[in-house]
Amino acid sequence: MVRVGLVGVGIIAETHLAVLAERPEVELEFTVDPRVAGPVGFRGEAPPHYRDLARALDAHRPDLVVLATPTETHAELTSLVLLRSSARVLVEKPLVHDRASLAALRELDGAVDVRGRVLTAHHFAFSPEVDWAADLLAGHPEWGPVTTVTSAFYDPYVSRGAEAFASYVSSWTDSGVNQLSMLTRFVDLAGPASVRQTDGGASAWCTVDFRSRGETGTARLRSSWLTGASSKESSLVFGRSGVEVWIDHTAMTGFAAREGELLAVFGNDGLTPRKVAHYRPLYASLLSGRPDPVLGFEAAATITEVHLAAR
Ligand SMILES: NC(=O)c1ccc[n+]([C@@H]2O[C@H](COP(=O)([O-])OP(=O)(O)OC[C@H]3O[C@@H](n4cnc5c(N)ncnc54)[C@H](O)[C@@H]3O)[C@@H](O)[C@H]2O)c1
Repeated sequence: MVRVGLVGVGIIAETHLAVLAERPEVELEFTVDPRVAGPVGFRGEAPPHYRDLARALDAHRPDLVVLATPTETHAELTSLVLLRSSARVLVEKPLVHDRASLAALRELDGAVDVRGRVLTAHHFAFSPEVDWAADLLAGHPEWGPVTTVTSAFYDPYVSRGAEAFASYVSSWTDSGVNQLSMLTRFVDLAGPASVRQTDGGASAWCTVDFRSRGETGTARLRSSWLTGASSKESSLVFGRSGVEVWIDHTAMTGFAAREGELLAVFGNDGLTPRKVAHYRPLYASLLSGRPDPVLGFEAAATITEVHLAAR
């Protein structure tokens, strides 16, 4: 059995709870949230609820603590789990909100096993259309290197105002890390990123260099909260061969084309909600005993360096 403690019972916690409930080896040991008064239902039961993580860790011995709290709390709560328990910790992305927090976690390594115990929920790297495109790319070396990636992530957070900034900090902090973790499935990041933030942090434009099959390419990343609907798409261009792979992260679909020729397509049965489609394979990997490296501390550190070293 894997005894799980869930910290932060907000929007994304609903997806964590839904996917954890599907896994027979998981027991929900406790939940923590200062704003939630009572226990949270899990498979018809109500595990103990706490307002404070330290008190929960004093009373329980979890194997895994999931942090689904506002971004600026991740670093501090991760350190608390590392120092006050022997549990692994799955931190919602981004792992940290600033470079000092990354340095502090690195300093803890040695005293505690940061590399072995800290995992980051880079969920976009597990999205089905990303998985499909990564397999397609690997199967077609004759397409040559990826030369340009263009990605646009829109979230309808403008209506949530200050609440969105409190939970997610900025569009770049929130979507940028999703875009970068998705990119790591296709290319090697060669950052640092060059980022221009506008609309008070609600929008961003970023360019970042990468390496693909021995050559350098450039990714252009747009994100914004100034919209009434969620929409996320990316295009990978293989400039040498004229192939383009188009992936729609909202619909979880994709296709590849060269000029007028359709080369490959990807769809789904429409039955799996988008976030569940991300977190189901993420948890399968995490609990497999051999977590995908994109969940590991090194991947998070690399993504954080590129993400936060914005010029
Ligand atoms: N919403 C999404 O679709 C989504 C998707 C993937 C990742 N994330 C990430 O997950 C994190 C949370 O996002 P959200 O949308 O669920 O935010 P949210 O604001 O809906 O929920 C956060 C919850 O954490 C609680 N909280 C705050 N401080 C706490 C503390 N010290 N201890 C325990 N609980 C605490 C809050 O009371 C709140 O209920 C963010 O880092 C975000 O980037 C969100």
